Amino acid sequence: MTKSKRIGILISGGDCAGLNAAVRAAVHRAALLGWTVIGVEEGVRGLMAEPTKTLKLTPEMFDGSVVRRRETFLPTTNTGDPFAFPDQYGDVLDRSDDVIRGYHALKLDALIGVGGDGSQATLYKLAQKGGMNLVCIPKTIDNDIGLTEVSIGYDTAVQVATEALDNLQPTAASHNRIMILEVMGRDAGHIAMVAGIAGGADVILIPEIPYRIEHVVRKIETLKESGRGFALIVVAESAPNESGNKVVQKYAGGASRYGGISHLLGDRLAEITKSEIRVTVLGHVQRGAAPDARDRLMASVFGVHAVDLIAAEKFNRMVAWRNRNVVDVALEDVIKAPALVDPGGPIVHTARGLGICLGDA
Ligand code: F6P
Repeated sequence: MTKSKRIGILISGGDCAGLNAAVRAAVHRAALLGWTVIGVEEGVRGLMAEPTKTLKLTPEMFDGSVVRRRETFLPTTNTGDPFAFPDQYGDVLDRSDDVIRGYHALKLDALIGVGGDGSQATLYKLAQKGGMNLVCIPKTIDNDIGLTEVSIGYDTAVQVATEALDNLQPTAASHNRIMILEVMGRDAGHIAMVAGIAGGADVILIPEIPYRIEHVVRKIETLKESGRGFALIVVAESAPNESGNKVVQKYAGGASRYGGISHLLGDRLAEITKSEIRVTVLGHVQRGAAPDARDRLMASVFGVHAVDLIAAEKFNRMVAWRNRNVVDVALEDVIKAPALVDPGGPIVHTARGLGICLGDA
């Protein structure tokens, strides 16, 4: 039996399916060890606030039904870097000390941060600066976190994108149209590539493989010549335009996010091929779906293992899934580089083997 501990858990960054299963797992595992778990709301903002925004988490709050719940039990945010925190006057302040103060005020022995690579980098910096004992759990639909094969939320997002292709194909066939589906993934093309293969796409465009529009046009013409009047194209949101620039949408307040490449692509293809084209931008439905079994499982594995790491006093680590096993890896290595689609890897090879056009040939 380890000494009783008081640990915090927070979610940082964009939400995704499976987060509640991770928190549930950590709470149950900690309770079995006789520990107290404090949930922190809105990521590090909850630690920064005075008083801190927290609630005690008990196993009674986390029966099995919580794994089915879609909205996060603990609210999250993907804005407000504590090292450059926007104030009400439009200036940015370093509020990292406020976060560190919150951690120590709560008398935490350790903190579990559930986040993507950006959040993990920030948490790691805070831990280094403030003597916080940190363990991270990888989550993001983008699946771009280094040193783990899986992040929570990815599998469900792929499922949603695949179902979108399943639903687009019949209407594409009925109208002899070309359907373009734009999916999320930030700078990585994992969702596009895997959903494209699973959903029977004819063309998949991702940022890791430079494409030329002529190759896409030729694929469409070849399909037409073979008697197929429709085509399915999947494009990752950060695939560049023909000039090589990634396409962003600007939002009120100055934020910008990837989005819009599918419309540019659709216009160009309509112009060149004279085909009827329709565009679907899948957006946040990839994050709000009910977690599938794989995400629930991975989240549970990660939640239990994160607590075990704290019991072993192993900090500055991220739990990871590698070679059919749960392991832990150094955060300083995780944040060095994102895990992008390997153009020479087995998934891309599979797509090519299926005759899917990746825009480069
Ligand atoms: O990182 C997850 C993600 O969904 C990306 O795929 C996407 O580019 C971004 O977040 C969208 O962010 P927001 O929720 O701020 O619109």
